[in-house]
Amino acid sequence: MTIAITGSASGIGAATAAALSAAGHDIIGIDLRDADVRADLADPASRAAAIEKVTERCGGTLDGAVLCAGVGPHTPDPLRLIDINYHAAVAVLDGLLPVLCKAESPAVVVVSSVASVQVTWAENPLATDPTPADLTAALRPAGDYAGHLAYAWSKNALTVAVRRRAADWGAAGVRLNTVAPGTVDTPLLRAGLDDPRYGDLIRGFTAPIARTAEPAEIASLTTYLLGPQAGYIHGAQFVIDGGVDAATRPTMF
Ligand SMILES: NC(=O)c1ccc[n+]([C@@H]2O[C@H](COP(=O)([O-])OP(=O)(O)OC[C@H]3O[C@@H](n4cnc5c(N)ncnc54)[C@H](O)[C@@H]3O)[C@@H](O)[C@H]2O)c1
Repeated sequence: MTIAITGSASGIGAATAAALSAAGHDIIGIDLRDADVRADLADPASRAAAIEKVTERCGGTLDGAVLCAGVGPHTPDPLRLIDINYHAAVAVLDGLLPVLCKAESPAVVVVSSVASVQVTWAENPLATDPTPADLTAALRPAGDYAGHLAYAWSKNALTVAVRRRAADWGAAGVRLNTVAPGTVDTPLLRAGLDDPRYGDLIRGFTAPIARTAEPAEIASLTTYLLGPQAGYIHGAQFVIDGGVDAATRPTMF
């Protein structure tokens, strides 16, 4: 199978590329650097060129995609965070659909986050396609934690976007699911730990399985979801968080 992976240069994307490559698949990595296709996916022209290059490299037929590219709550500009984690991810998803449709049993995994369930769609301003000024105003009350709020909104909106595609993509024969990790030991998490606003919060938060995940553990779930044994799994979100969601919201699922 030929599989495109965004965010392939680091963390979960790199571990996913390694796992899928070891399983014999051809990988097309897409990232800002150190990738087969170098692109800033938040930039529309760069993103369009990247989709074009992926289309060329896969010969017009793509068997799978894993969308990992993203930034964490510590990112200085929360609006850029929303652009990368939500708008760009959805645009890449839709941009790859034509080549995915050509494959025999294509599947896609989008990396959301357990933060996606920390806000509801009803309270998510991204539901109403806000202007940058509206978003800035909505983030203001969060003060130093605007990044975390923007992150939760972006991942909530990303999971909703995937679920909203389940009907059409299923009819087109393309399986589409999200994984929602808790804390995973990657450069993104380490940057959060080094940030004075977020470091103690992250350190003080212990999952029932009292450790962070290894990127390979997320890659292992993703590999399963892309494969034939997951043939009836579609439109689902898989939390992989050491039990955090169950422990904090036992009655909500
Ligand atoms: N690490 C965690 O604890 C954790 C938890 C839940 C969800 N996630 C999600 O997992 C995904 C991968 O994160 P990670 O922890 O492996 O982080 P990471 O920083 O190790 O890797 C992210 C990759 O995305 C790339 N990227 C960022 N912006 C980009 C852009 N504009 N264009 C192209 N590539 C871009 C980066 O260059 C990097 O290689 C992200 O979507 C993140 O939100 C991570």
